[in-house]
Amino acid sequence: MNDLQTVVERARAAFDTVHAPAELENVKAQYLGKSGCITDLMKGLAALPVDEKKSRGAAINQAKQAIEAALNARRQALADAQLQAQLQAEALDVTLPGRQRGVGGLHPVSLSLERIQTIFGSMGFEVAQGPEIESDWFNFTALNTPENHPARSMHDTFYVEGGTEHAPNLLRTHTSPMQIRHAVQHVKKHRAADAAWVQGTLFSGAMPEIRVIAPGRTYRVDSDATHSPMFHQCEGLWVGENVSFKDLKYVFTDFCRTFFENNDLVLRFRPSFFPFTEPSAEIDIQFPSGPLAGRWLEVAGSGQVHPNVIRNMGLDPERYIGFAFGMGPDRLTMLRYGVNDLRLFFDGDIRFLAQFR
Ligand code: PHE
Repeated sequence: MNDLQTVVERARAAFDTVHAPAELENVKAQYLGKSGCITDLMKGLAALPVDEKKSRGAAINQAKQAIEAALNARRQALADAQLQAQLQAEALDVTLPGRQRGVGGLHPVSLSLERIQTIFGSMGFEVAQGPEIESDWFNFTALNTPENHPARSMHDTFYVEGGTEHAPNLLRTHTSPMQIRHAVQHVKKHRAADAAWVQGTLFSGAMPEIRVIAPGRTYRVDSDATHSPMFHQCEGLWVGENVSFKDLKYVFTDFCRTFFENNDLVLRFRPSFFPFTEPSAEIDIQFPSGPLAGRWLEVAGSGQVHPNVIRNMGLDPERYIGFAFGMGPDRLTMLRYGVNDLRLFFDGDIRFLAQFR
């Protein structure tokens, strides 16, 4: 191997040991730079006789080109390696499981409320909504439960700031205030169209029947496996000229049998007391078969609307009469799905809730 070949081989070997592009440029200077090997060799030409200069010069040039080729090859190799490393680092593993976007669903109690609205809707009931922070008047007094009435202690009420002594604000303990709120609006609308109605008197003219349900959240100071401080109720009210207790029995029986998809369901109207209905009844249901068979399960309070309540609606109780009920959609949901702890509905545990999707 002549001296030029040796230089080329040394350069190649030196380039190959380098792994960083900046370092490669330093090594390049040792061979191709101003004071590098090739420049030194070129300087040596001056001492040669003229006839040798030409062939030696050409040989040095060849060596230079070989070194440049080796340099470029190494540059390319380093750039390729860098690109490979980068691609590797940014690589997508298409075999990894994707990030799931969960499919949402309605809460089981919402499913029940929708069901209740559909069933009563098919019987001509409209749906009304009202405030959860209620006044003493709508929650108690207008419902024939005056101050100091012992029935008030049946409800463990959450009182909230902002009311006065005689009209405190509270979290509604039931949806019954909606009986008054809705009926008052209904009566106002229709008595205005009646020329015979005298301002300040109870309305005894003609009007379309009041037929409404009012679902929503209600609150009581109470908490265990079957009671939650926040729970749901759905009020029902039907007031007309000829609405009797038998209509209540028919409507509610039909509702329960449709809700539970069971025509053999048995209902019991057990005498009870509510200040705003007279007579009053607690409604119990019994499944003919299944895990709950044979047990009476309370699902609602009900009764014929008390004349004092009819008056507070602005109606003349000599002409208007009706029934009301208040049921517990949470309870209905527990019975429908066989859930035995009410708190599961409000814990927000996805593992529980996803089962109802
Ligand atoms: N509001 C009563 C309760 O919460 C239920 C009820 C409603 C009773 C309507 C009679 C009529 O217990």
